[in-house]
Amino acid sequence: MDAAPAAEPALRSAPRLRGGLPIVGHTLSFLRDLTGLLARAHDACGEVAAIKVLGKDIVLVTGPAGHEAIFRAPDEVLSPKAAYKMMVPVFGKGVAYDCEDARMNEQLRMLRPALQARRMRTYGEIIAAEVDDALASWDATGTLDLYTWMAQLTNYTSSHCLLGPEFRKEMSAEFAQVYHDLERSIVPIAYLDPDLPLPVFRRRDKARARLGAMVAAIVARRKAAGTVGEDFLQTLMDETYEDGSHLSDHEITGMLVAAMFAGHHTSSATAVWTLLELLQHPRWMTGVEEELARVFADGRPIDHESLRELTMTEHAIKEALRLHPPLFILLRVAMEDTAVLGYRIPKGTWVAVSPIVAHQLPEVFEAPASFCPHRFAPPREEDRQPFAYIAFGGGRHKCLGNAFALLQIKTILAMLLQRYRFELTDDPIVPDFRGLVIGPRGPIRVRYHRRA
Ligand code: HEM
Repeated sequence: MDAAPAAEPALRSAPRLRGGLPIVGHTLSFLRDLTGLLARAHDACGEVAAIKVLGKDIVLVTGPAGHEAIFRAPDEVLSPKAAYKMMVPVFGKGVAYDCEDARMNEQLRMLRPALQARRMRTYGEIIAAEVDDALASWDATGTLDLYTWMAQLTNYTSSHCLLGPEFRKEMSAEFAQVYHDLERSIVPIAYLDPDLPLPVFRRRDKARARLGAMVAAIVARRKAAGTVGEDFLQTLMDETYEDGSHLSDHEITGMLVAAMFAGHHTSSATAVWTLLELLQHPRWMTGVEEELARVFADGRPIDHESLRELTMTEHAIKEALRLHPPLFILLRVAMEDTAVLGYRIPKGTWVAVSPIVAHQLPEVFEAPASFCPHRFAPPREEDRQPFAYIAFGGGRHKCLGNAFALLQIKTILAMLLQRYRFELTDDPIVPDFRGLVIGPRGPIRVRYHRRA
């Protein structure tokens, strides 16, 4: 007798977090305390948890197997583009999330040459020179707001490496303001509708138009002068689509904004968190200081090669990123009916992966709430399990700038800690959840003392 075909296991509906209000569901918690809502959903429902926000179903998927399913899904099934529509007014029409999937992926491909290892040498030198400049005005001892100082420094380093020296020289108070207005527009309500008539979105549109004009002027000047640079701007000017056409000036502007945007505040927040965690855990600070003293004992320069030897420093940065992932919610929209881990995901559902929830799983990370850089060293290597450590995402849309970010943060920390000793003041250290890139809430005043 022929065996009957095995029946497909029936798909289940994702368990829903209780406590949502009629009609609005969990919208109020989404707007007021998004990270708290995500943690509650996971605690109550497990690896797949559904919430409802302004009529949209959002399914939070947590755990390495679930992350892998989301990160590896084709864009046609789980679309990042549909989820990040709120970035369109920031990046511009016809750029990244406003294009067809194939066009968007071609544009993302164009970022790669600018972020490859070959370029890291040049970037390392530029970053070190910027840190030198920024430290030149420090006295032997003093107090500063680390948060603001770091945001400005990483703005200079990122813009210098990515946009080029002309742009860096033109950077003014106006640029800082314009950029700030763009960043401040990334608030939870933007996911719902980025074109609501709110002051924060009006300031964003004005800032985007002004920034476009500033970037376009520099592109035009470079073209007219025939200058060739070793930077991201040059890569974009030289790159072509598969049909042989070049990026338009408008597209170049949008891509520059996108790269600055992806890399600036994320790196700045991570550098500050790492320093703050080390200051609160003197044992690890001593370990990092000893490593720096050993690697640079013979007066070696801070460069691509010497930075690669800073293993403990790198583990401290990774650990700060585990506890404080700046991008704490990564989203996709289901473009067709699909399934994750045996749960039905109907077309139109929003699917979320949250690094901040994922990094607190006790079955993956031992004592997950504690700061312990050693968890990344052998034999523990808690990030070894694929898709467990997801501060940089994973799969198809994994961060393209992670090598650049680590190079930059390591350089800054190595230079600061070799030259100065730091002390915390009484300022409370709490995360700032008002934007969607989370950093510590400023001001963060620290005292510094020049080392002998
Ligand atoms: C500590 C710093 C950084 C963190 C924590 C970070 C984190 C992330 C994460 C989580 C994603 C995945 C988003 C998703 O799946 O929805 C991502 C994507 C991306 N990141 Fe980063 N990033 C950092 C720095 C940078 C830098 C410096 C650049 C460029 C200069 C950059 C460029 C990008 C780009 C272009 C993507 C999109 C890739 C794609 O969609 O295929 N990032 N980043």
